[in-house]
Amino acid sequence: MALQENAPSLAVVGVTGAVGQEFLSVLSDRDFPYRSIKMLASKRSAGKQLTFQDRNYTIEELTEDSFDGVDIALFSAGGSISKHFGPVAMEKGSVVVDNSSAFRMEEGIPLVIPEVNPEAMEGIKVGTGKGALIANPNCSTIICLMAATPLHKHAKVIRMVVSTYQAASGAGAAAMEELELQTREVMEGKPPTCNIFKQQYAFNLFSHNAPILSNGYNEEEMKLVKETRKIWNDMNVKVTATCIRVPVMRAHAESVNLQFEKPIDEYTAKDILKSSPGVVVIDDPASNHFPTPLEVSNKDDVAVGRICRDVSQDGYKGLDMFVCGDQIRKGAALNAIQIAEMLL
Ligand SMILES: NC(=O)c1ccc[n+]([C@@H]2O[C@H](COP(=O)([O-])OP(=O)(O)OC[C@H]3O[C@@H](n4cnc5c(N)ncnc54)[C@H](OP(=O)(O)O)[C@@H]3O)[C@@H](O)[C@H]2O)c1
Repeated sequence: MALQENAPSLAVVGVTGAVGQEFLSVLSDRDFPYRSIKMLASKRSAGKQLTFQDRNYTIEELTEDSFDGVDIALFSAGGSISKHFGPVAMEKGSVVVDNSSAFRMEEGIPLVIPEVNPEAMEGIKVGTGKGALIANPNCSTIICLMAATPLHKHAKVIRMVVSTYQAASGAGAAAMEELELQTREVMEGKPPTCNIFKQQYAFNLFSHNAPILSNGYNEEEMKLVKETRKIWNDMNVKVTATCIRVPVMRAHAESVNLQFEKPIDEYTAKDILKSSPGVVVIDDPASNHFPTPLEVSNKDDVAVGRICRDVSQDGYKGLDMFVCGDQIRKGAALNAIQIAEMLL
């Protein structure tokens, strides 16, 4: 039973959203211990009822008083909410695990994937009365680094080229609804409703909707560049990315090309990945069976396949692979709850 008297008190900020709902399901699946849990969202949702582990809860409006007595606050209500209320929660002694990009690149804020760099949050625990903030990396970064890091630890990645195929779920619950609606509308010969994205999404794909920066990259692509350097604590690793939104409901796919300092062949890479926690290898060339977004949806593990030598590079110093991961789960909620588990 996860409800325990001497366990931490929790708050879920953005509980009605795609990630917020997944927080609840991961907390349940992993039997996370808690003595109380506050369900927080905007004014729009305040007063609505929600059932969690056979108990009824009333959703409360997020305010400055929401964090009194809260030990762990799981945030997923957008960057501006985190920017304002993250420090408020810390002041009250809560440890904040933040899913937004608000604090990821801030010096002194740990940016953590538990399987990759748990040492970054060393010494942060609940029950000390001291508030803290830990950032959850971007979903594409988590999925990519879950697969790339075990190989990096073996042969040191010096350059990484990532192309993403990102699902609707990455843009929240409303984007998932819009993809479903558009699919029906297009099938019925009606013009598609475009509220979340500016263009038709069903039966189409387009460059990620994140804002384009002055260097020509979009924000999502630069997150992969900057967050990889911070998580690997390697300011010299070269990373470039192209991020594309595809009409998949849930779970991102990524093609990853790696260049290494030391030689590594595809067989060694497969063996390393097979024994890496949180990673599953789906690589069956005989039946052309490799990872797909559908196969990893609602799953914890990141799947890797198409692991082959990059023939454009000499001396076994390059590999290609295809990675799929449920980004609401490992890319957001699961990663955050794993961080919370390390606080206990
Ligand atoms: N989707 C992903 O895969 C993913 C992955 C990693 C990180 N993230 C990050 O997680 C955050 C949420 O993403 P999402 O996909 O779950 O979005 P979403 O489905 O649109 O949900 C947004 C949540 O934020 C709440 N909210 C909005 N304005 C608020 C306010 N003024 N006060 C309190 N709560 C407010 C909403 O509550 P109402 O229902 O009351 O409006 C809702 O619960 C974003 O920062 C996103 O970048 C998302």
